[in-house]
Amino acid sequence: MLSRRSFIRASGGAAAMAALPATVARAKAAAPELVAREYAVQLLPPDYPETSVWGYDGQAPGPEIRVMQGDRIARRFVNRLPQASSVHWHGLRAENAMDGVSGLTQDAVPPGESFDYDLAAEDAGTFWYHSHNRSAEQVARGLYGPLIVDEPTPPDVDRDVTLMLDDWRVDPKTGQITQDFDAPHDLSHGGRLGNFISTNGEAAYQLPVRRNERLRLRIVNAANARLFTLGIQGLDGWLMAYDGMPVTSPEPMPETLTLGPGQRVDLFVDVIAEEGEEALLGRIDQSKGYVQAAFPVSGRASANRRPAPAPLPRNRTPDLAGLADAATLRLEMSGGAMGSMREAIWKGSSRNADELMENGQFWAFNGLVGMTETPLARLSLGQVARMTVVNDTVFPHAMHLHGMHFRVLAQDGTPGPLRDTLLTARGETHEIVFAADNPGRWAFHCHMLSHAASGMMTWIEVTA
Ligand code: C2O
Ligand code: CU
Repeated sequence: MLSRRSFIRASGGAAAMAALPATVARAKAAAPELVAREYAVQLLPPDYPETSVWGYDGQAPGPEIRVMQGDRIARRFVNRLPQASSVHWHGLRAENAMDGVSGLTQDAVPPGESFDYDLAAEDAGTFWYHSHNRSAEQVARGLYGPLIVDEPTPPDVDRDVTLMLDDWRVDPKTGQITQDFDAPHDLSHGGRLGNFISTNGEAAYQLPVRRNERLRLRIVNAANARLFTLGIQGLDGWLMAYDGMPVTSPEPMPETLTLGPGQRVDLFVDVIAEEGEEALLGRIDQSKGYVQAAFPVSGRASANRRPAPAPLPRNRTPDLAGLADAATLRLEMSGGAMGSMREAIWKGSSRNADELMENGQFWAFNGLVGMTETPLARLSLGQVARMTVVNDTVFPHAMHLHGMHFRVLAQDGTPGPLRDTLLTARGETHEIVFAADNPGRWAFHCHMLSHAASGMMTWIEVTA
């Protein structure tokens, strides 16, 4: 048998010599810190005062975390906030213990303390990280950032650009984030909508480009509640991925594209605006168009456009073999203003609408308000589940499943693209299917964070 000693001696040679110190160094080096604290940034246009945010590493949004597919993401989260917090890695199909959901996968990290996150980045794609404790307040204050996992072979684009869209609710006189995080009107209606919309924390995001340049735009909706309906101008391209997962063949960019909170898309776009013009990513709000990001064009990248792109390589996601005898689940959403919810179960006992309202609770899943002792469903590892999601409310919702991506079935039963967040409009019913291939306790909630805080939060357990 080889002892460690004989192994080192026996293998000898330059390769082993070179490998050894690196291993030792890696074992010693502590993970880089990700420090959450309060600081001031120039969020609003320059004629406004600085805004005090809660954020990561002195930035808003937080710093880009970027790794190669297959690598690990290791960060020592240091909490210098006045509140307990935790970090969730939205869309990563990683280890449950590292999922960062306070009260479900870990205790919230108290002020002054730290937590070591270390998780595998198995899927290449566009993800994001954000606070998962008192999220309706903490994400609104700025606790989020981009998380990019690179494909081992870089796709053929000239530039790779992440655009994090957010809206903030600020007092225009003081320039400060308003502290009405529990406003009953927001909780019971469309959530906390802002009055200042940013791209990467800027009011007027601009990126100079060249004609015929191909950009990869990774667009993340980091807003608490706002839907972004997007269109492009002076750009032409393809939709390459939803929620971090590549589509099987690039889809021509539709006229408009709506992203619910938490959702992402990857676009490949070619700059077709003339030199001296501006290409735009815009948003449509109550049938008016607004610039969300501007790309002034000068010079040319090449004489002609590139040919249509090849699809991004697929991630190693499970197939849905066994769909025919899938476990059937149902999630019925009720409540909210103008809803018909008369009573529901909260903290183990039945309450009428007034009692719920007094406690800031407005929504229910299957008649249950907020987190419960027992999960919505218990699935065994590898089981395929098919869930009917009924939106019996007059508001849209963005249902996010942690730990596993799902597919939405079309009317005819064909599975659609992989997603981690389902945007459902008032009155809609969807069927989603997923393979329960990741053991643990997984949060399943509305990503309109005021809704999650006022009832729309549950969990699914996958047992090994
Ligand atoms: Cu993006 Cu449960 O979170
Ligand atoms: Cu909702």
